[in-house]
Amino acid sequence: MAIKIGLIPGDGIGPEIVAEAEKVLLAAADKYGFTLDFEKLLLGGASIDATGLPLTEETVEKAKACEAVLMGSIGGDAKTSPWYQLPADKRPEAGLLGIRKALNLFANLRPAYLYDELKDACPLKPAMTENGFDMIIVRELTGGLYFGKRYTETVNGLRTAVDTLTYNEEEIRRIAVKAFDIAMKRRKKVTSVDKANVLDSSRLWRAVVEEVAADYPEVTLEHMLVDNCAMQLVMNPGQFDVILTENMFGDILSDEASMTTGSIGMLSSASLNETKFGLYEPSHGSAPDIAGKNIANPIATILSAAMMLRFSLDRDEAADAIEKAVEQVLKEGYRTADIWSEGCEKVSTDRMGSLIAERLR
Ligand code: IPM
Ligand code: MG
Repeated sequence: MAIKIGLIPGDGIGPEIVAEAEKVLLAAADKYGFTLDFEKLLLGGASIDATGLPLTEETVEKAKACEAVLMGSIGGDAKTSPWYQLPADKRPEAGLLGIRKALNLFANLRPAYLYDELKDACPLKPAMTENGFDMIIVRELTGGLYFGKRYTETVNGLRTAVDTLTYNEEEIRRIAVKAFDIAMKRRKKVTSVDKANVLDSSRLWRAVVEEVAADYPEVTLEHMLVDNCAMQLVMNPGQFDVILTENMFGDILSDEASMTTGSIGMLSSASLNETKFGLYEPSHGSAPDIAGKNIANPIATILSAAMMLRFSLDRDEAADAIEKAVEQVLKEGYRTADIWSEGCEKVSTDRMGSLIAERLR
């Protein structure tokens, strides 16, 4: 039976990079003897253009009927795109937050590691990355500040805005369990990041993480304040294995971590719920400035497709093969513009996708 996969091309470079991931997935399916049935879903700006809303009930229902969803990216240029003339809850980003909530995708996994082939692209001094680094950020994705009550009102004649940051212990526990489970399959270290010197939500976070840690005696747990973590990420990224943190801290730290790799166009991510279902997407954004130019790097999306095969579809062999194909193409010296360096061959988005698909055959 065909495996049903939702595809959200989205906005900006999204449609171009998703097309390449689709190409690679089809090559992998062909090789490993399974059939994929893709269904295109609307989200973000593309959904606003088609329906007036960044997320519709139809997209949620169709996504639920899929075994997994692969997404490109959503959003546009806030200065020039008409989407940003709309009220905040009707903009592209609201669609993404909405689908995460609707599908209960509370666990966002964002790996950041240094590619051997791309070491020169790393913006950190060589002394700081002598032994490389390989971490995964486990970000809570459906709670905290991004989902709390927010409003703007006038208080004593002053415009006043309020955002609320709420976590209950259950929300903290389930993401902590995910992080510890992942750590058990890696180097068995969890760094839980919070702001417990100021925030109540962080003090509860710390207490619950300690409780969960008691069930994982093999895992080393350390707590780190978020401001210190921001510093440590550029001073000594090699110290991290699994970083566990709440929604907003994870949003910020994951951008920082991916930038330190020098290859944000290479990093995949997964958003998971309690079941096998997941939404997979590159860690980077929609890059409207280069949309439609056939120069974007499709590798992060292709690697997200590999993650999808592994985590949601139990097709480990195909996932391994895609990752190997990516490595091989890099070893052969092919690069998209974002990771290009002297002596390498610069290739377009679709050429990169085709090269990786060919290596699978
Ligand atoms: C991300 C993005 C989103 C987030 C935005 C687009 C709402 O920055 O996936 O990190 O903040 O979660
Ligand atoms: Mg972000």
